[in-house]
Amino acid sequence: MRTMIRLMTALLAISTMAAEPAIVPKTVEMTVNAGSFTFTANTTISGSRELGNEATYLANLINKPTGFLLKGLPEIKQHPADVQLEIDSSLAGLGPEAYTLSVTPRSIVLKGASPAGVFRGIQTIRLLLPPQIESRTKVAGIACDVPDVEIKDYPRFAWRGLMLDVSRHFFAKEEVKKLLDAMALQKMSTFHWHLVDDNGWRIEIKKYPKLTQEGAWRKEIGFGLDPKSSTTYGPDGRYGGFYTQDDIREVVAYAAALHITVIPEIEMPGHAGAVLSVYPEFSCEGKKLSTDMGAGVHASVYCAGNDDAFTFVQNVLTEVFALFPGKYVHIGGDEVPKGNWKKCPKCQERIKAEGLKGEHELQSYFIRRIEKFVNANGKTLIGWSEIREGGLAKNAALMDWIGGAVEGASDGHDVVMSPTSHCYLDYAQGKHGEPRSIGGFVPLKKVYDFEPIPAKLKPEFQKHILGAQGNLWTEYIASPGHMEYMAFPRGCAIAEDTWTPAKEKNYEDFRARLANIFAHFDVMGVNYRKLTEEPKPLAGWKSGETKETFAPQTWDISSQIKDAGKYEVAFQYTGGTCRLDIEWATLLVNGKEVARDTHAGQTGASTKNNVYKLKLDAPVAGAKYELQASIRSDGGTDSNGDITVQFVK
Ligand code: ACM
Ligand code: ZN
Repeated sequence: MRTMIRLMTALLAISTMAAEPAIVPKTVEMTVNAGSFTFTANTTISGSRELGNEATYLANLINKPTGFLLKGLPEIKQHPADVQLEIDSSLAGLGPEAYTLSVTPRSIVLKGASPAGVFRGIQTIRLLLPPQIESRTKVAGIACDVPDVEIKDYPRFAWRGLMLDVSRHFFAKEEVKKLLDAMALQKMSTFHWHLVDDNGWRIEIKKYPKLTQEGAWRKEIGFGLDPKSSTTYGPDGRYGGFYTQDDIREVVAYAAALHITVIPEIEMPGHAGAVLSVYPEFSCEGKKLSTDMGAGVHASVYCAGNDDAFTFVQNVLTEVFALFPGKYVHIGGDEVPKGNWKKCPKCQERIKAEGLKGEHELQSYFIRRIEKFVNANGKTLIGWSEIREGGLAKNAALMDWIGGAVEGASDGHDVVMSPTSHCYLDYAQGKHGEPRSIGGFVPLKKVYDFEPIPAKLKPEFQKHILGAQGNLWTEYIASPGHMEYMAFPRGCAIAEDTWTPAKEKNYEDFRARLANIFAHFDVMGVNYRKLTEEPKPLAGWKSGETKETFAPQTWDISSQIKDAGKYEVAFQYTGGTCRLDIEWATLLVNGKEVARDTHAGQTGASTKNNVYKLKLDAPVAGAKYELQASIRSDGGTDSNGDITVQFVK
């Protein structure tokens, strides 16, 4: 009898326990109770004065799809409001973004360590509401229910972000704001805006109007892309665009309301092609070399021996400082070509005068000189891995894309993680049916498995890892829909990598929770890559197995071939120093060729046309099916990759 009662009590407990709502990034602590709170036309809201923006944000969120106007209650009141927003200083030890959320049928109480914490908590409420809450127009019959929960939540890292390159391809301010909205939904904190590169200058600088009058435009879309893959053309048909200073202020203010800090990046001393095509006097050559800044322009470099080039950069930065209130200014510093400096008398003179040991130290001279200026203006410099070359400037922060995090953090520098291996969202995320990408392979699971603290970093230096971000370089990404497709859901994985305690992470659970994010994205009109089951690799090639000249290789793929129809074969590079080239692929049935696809394909740091289509008209029971392809590795034999086969009917 006692067992029976205990069993019944247990069953009762289970039946009243609701399923855990799907929040991304996963909350630190959540309990779910039966019941829910419902927003109605009579719902009241209260918040202290410093929470005015957050209260307005929540009121707008509810108002748009429902038409309800949440009624404000004064701070000091007889009856507590239904929705209470509060600052709770006892949460401060968990960081400014910590919050607690308590939902019962009668009230929602959201307490934050700061307004940022309250805002992050509102994003949790957003995901607890039905996805139609994202509608900007009225939705008939929307049930504005929030399940009863008790949540305590705070981020693992402060820097949780995405970078967008608007130089290679331009994205209008409204498209950037839409990305910010999607980032806010996942509690991201940092938007790194790559405003300047070889192929276009995108920020108005009043002192140097030619930067945007000329430097923001090029003859063609470039990078071999279909001209129709973008709409950002000027009235004269040239490709490009830029942000006025008012546009920049508008986006920065929009982000600030979402508690997202915007980090501007002004590339130097390399990746300066756009500047030097309009102000060639700041290059080592001193004269215009290129007639257009399309895809053909390779990294150009400021002359480090010319003081006028420093004055120019400092004047630009002075206008940048005034537009971006954040602490950090990113100065690039990556992939600096040293060839010009080697040949340039002014640069060589500088090396001599400053007692530098060659061009590597000239680079660090450049960075340190700029850093002094950045610091004198109350800002902190951040730059890519290479700013360590020749010695890292004193209080600079490092953005690790090709290493340096362990060394930098151990020397006391703050570090943001964005390694190519896990955080490059311009790399392909699937093997079949993907749009052309720059190369590499970073599927969702790889991003999700990312641990921001490098394994070799000693515990006492781990505090220097500020967080991580995904990078959206846009050489092959020209439209907002494509940009969002590359950003999500991998950006959701970055959000969870940087918010959720590592021990709470679980990939299968994350995938299941994405359904809720996707439902919100659908209403927001944000594009994303749907979850698919990738076919398991059947075969592959390994370092040392391929030749440098084309030779056929054969793989048994019998297990994948059943029905008549088309099969797609994808060759996907997974590592090594060499690219794999493919000439043709054939399908053999019991040793006899039945289908062939001949075209040049490649997969590696650059991937192109790496999928082959083979049609099987007549399956043969019990036959041996083989894939044969003519392949070579380019410039050595160190290439690794795998081959997948997918039936496409
Ligand atoms: C980089 O990808 N060049 C930072
Ligand atoms: Zn020079």
